[in-house]
Amino acid sequence: MNDERILIRRAGALHGEVSIPGAKNSVLKLMAATLLAEGTFTLGNVPDIVDVGIMAELLAAIGVRSERLPGGVLRMVNSGEISPVAPYELVERIRASINVLGPLLGRFGRVSLSMPGGDDFGSRPIDMHVKGLEAMGATFEMRHGVVEARADRLHGADITLEFPSVGATENIVTAAVHAKGTTVLDNAAREPEISDLCNFLVGMGAQIEGIGSSTLVVHGVEPGELRATQHQVVPDRIQAATYMAAVAVSGGEVVLRGARADHMEMLLRRFRDMGLAVTDIGTGLAVWAEGRLRSIDMATLPYPGIATDYKPLVVTMLAVADGVGIVTENLYPGRFRYVEELQRLGADIRADGHHAVVRGVPALSGAPVRAPDIRAGAALVVAGLAADGETSVAGVHHVDRGYDDLVGRLAALGADIRRVPAG
Ligand code: UD1
Repeated sequence: MNDERILIRRAGALHGEVSIPGAKNSVLKLMAATLLAEGTFTLGNVPDIVDVGIMAELLAAIGVRSERLPGGVLRMVNSGEISPVAPYELVERIRASINVLGPLLGRFGRVSLSMPGGDDFGSRPIDMHVKGLEAMGATFEMRHGVVEARADRLHGADITLEFPSVGATENIVTAAVHAKGTTVLDNAAREPEISDLCNFLVGMGAQIEGIGSSTLVVHGVEPGELRATQHQVVPDRIQAATYMAAVAVSGGEVVLRGARADHMEMLLRRFRDMGLAVTDIGTGLAVWAEGRLRSIDMATLPYPGIATDYKPLVVTMLAVADGVGIVTENLYPGRFRYVEELQRLGADIRADGHHAVVRGVPALSGAPVRAPDIRAGAALVVAGLAADGETSVAGVHHVDRGYDDLVGRLAALGADIRRVPAG
């Protein structure tokens, strides 16, 4: 475990330009999808984050080797020698390890996988993944925390998800690309990262219609027909939102190079309601903030609604905004744990079940806090930018799972921020 801390002092307005790395929640799924075809894959715009390394280790254990090249490139080689067993020590470290299920089941007809880990919030069942794959002919057994799945050859099916689950959509699609016949997946999740995965699969020779919509139609191809490909990972909308939140609480003017307005429409609308000026400049977004933010109410919803991953950032912005905002969580009941940490910084927040009432205060006051997970960790860093005195964020290993040099990027914009060893 990494025992470093991030120290932040308020330094006023941020200025300059920051490049937005590729999305964690896309690249991990693209990496898992390299199990589908033999050959050499080249992924570009790959973020330098810990979870990419863990996924690479997991895939190496199964049979796909990865090599990082300069400039955010990841080369992955699937030589065809695959052992469809995902070991517990690696699976327990990231939720996205569940994404090997669909490719392995569709391509090799069997998988043995420990139940996935990842951020420790709420309960994260996989019943929708299982039901969808069962409808395609798979059988499942769960014993001693291990999922054993089998199928002679999956067949196409009409599947309607009870809820547009990101992970279930991804596993059903990556299984369906090798199924016999056509799979129609209704109420599919339509996050930009899912479109990125579908486009990657199409680049490999898969036949998918309806990309970006909530009905995905997948015509299966024969095992062996898909081929390795090259792909640029979609920019990370959550990292982009993090730099926006940083500007929002600090003031200033920053260009987010590579950020995509069309992937963040609902959030941008709400950020504008709070007083942030955001302009789409084609190659990215220009963000400008001056004076105190205004409070809003906000609820998380599946895409195109406001992602649950943005919520700690929005709560942090509300903590220093003018007025009272109510934030409602519709996806994960346990995702308010960082509230206690924000309270240590002087935020006035009452969280109860799915709701948090945030009364803005003029300024936070620096204190030692601990990151409970990736996004909350980033939000605490942003809070430190709006706090008098020094804020020290421990639990930095969580932040490193999903952020590519958050400290260096913020420092380059003029923030007073650095990493120090524990002590
Ligand atoms: C992904 C993201 C995560 C994001 C979430 C929602 C990755 C690695 N993680 O997680 O950052 O917050 O999407 O946008 O991409 N559920 C079930 N049964 C299932 C599947 C899901 O009940 O079979 C529930 C979950 O417990 C949760 C909700 O549905 O309450 C959303 O889950 P899902 O959309 O599947 O999210 P993840 O893929 O786990």
